Amino acid sequence: MQSILVTGGAGFIGSHTCLLLLKQGYEVFIFDSFINSSEKSTEKILLTLQAENLELREKLHLIKGDLKDAKDIEKVFQLCLKLKRMILAVIHFAGLKSVHESTLEPLSYWENNVSGTINLLKVMKKYNCKNIVFSSSATVYRTTSKNLLNENDICKPINPYGNNKLTIENILGDLFKKDPLEWRIACLRYFNPVGANELGYLGEDPKVKTNNIFPQITKVALGRMNRIKIFGSDWPTPDGTGIRDYIHVMDVAEGHISTLNYLLQKQPQILTLNLGTGIGTSVREFIKIFEKVNNVEIPFCVEERRPGDNAFVVADNSLAKLILNWAPKRNIEDICRDGWNWQLKNPNGY
Ligand SMILES: NC(=O)c1ccc[n+]([C@@H]2O[C@H](COP(=O)([O-])OP(=O)(O)OC[C@H]3O[C@@H](n4cnc5c(N)ncnc54)[C@H](O)[C@@H]3O)[C@@H](O)[C@H]2O)c1
Repeated sequence: MQSILVTGGAGFIGSHTCLLLLKQGYEVFIFDSFINSSEKSTEKILLTLQAENLELREKLHLIKGDLKDAKDIEKVFQLCLKLKRMILAVIHFAGLKSVHESTLEPLSYWENNVSGTINLLKVMKKYNCKNIVFSSSATVYRTTSKNLLNENDICKPINPYGNNKLTIENILGDLFKKDPLEWRIACLRYFNPVGANELGYLGEDPKVKTNNIFPQITKVALGRMNRIKIFGSDWPTPDGTGIRDYIHVMDVAEGHISTLNYLLQKQPQILTLNLGTGIGTSVREFIKIFEKVNNVEIPFCVEERRPGDNAFVVADNSLAKLILNWAPKRNIEDICRDGWNWQLKNPNGY
């Protein structure tokens, strides 16, 4: 049986990916500090599987630990040895992810995200595990044009969070340069993962306050917030609001399975791929579609542009499609329906 270590596997994208890893027959070791997630998400993974008549409880292991402490990470590798397993690959989701918070607490972000990753890589090297899929982000790009962003575009992050992601990509690049015949590495640059698994057990339940649009839309729909704030209606876009590339979290999760299977079948290499849909949706359009699909009203107000925001951030996803034989299957309506379904079934989160 092939074992995969999933750091941050209790979080939003991690939990959806663990669900698919289990369905694919992998044994999964989740390592999470729960700084931004709940231990209950693993129960929700199992409930989702049970709803599909799959009983895979014994293939899912949950280890509480912090990447900032290398000894915690080592415990997972030790546990695997005890169980006579070997970790074949790591999918590395764990990290703090609020752009705004990263500007307020840059040292915590560098320590958690970058030092934490260095700890992880050192332990991986020690146990001779040299296959890794890393969660990078579209925030690494300089986003000043109206063109789709491709992997060769200039990277110039403008906040500590984006700097963390680019630095980790560079560290992985240096590791590969040193041992190009040993490492299999993929850096996946996500655009805007949103939505939830269609069965409504798994969704997005952050502990830290988020400025992301989707949790805010659902809060307004639930009546917990009066209105949504749109930052800027004078962007050079057809309706004046910013355009983003929203991708269903299940499509992102499927992208990880395709990447992992690809890496494990191929020669050692380093890959950098965008995970997005290639389709831009303005904030105003997104709200309208949510209202129409779910038959709810989302009041909004317009505020000043936020520093660091851009008009247009949309992926060129042709490389991922070509290499991975993967393509997003769900559209923006699916995102709105599935995300709202999860919120209705879990009005207080997990
Ligand atoms: N959601 C997005 O919009 C988005 C976009 C681009 C990139 N990403 C990246 O994808 C990854 C997953 O994102 P997500 O939306 O699922 O976030 P999330 O916060 O839901 O999941 C991250 C998980 O990592 C855990 N974690 C954080 N620091 C840890 C540490 N030091 N040790 C152990 N566990 C730790 C958290 O408790 C959480 O469960 C993150 O690295 C994020 O930066 C997310």
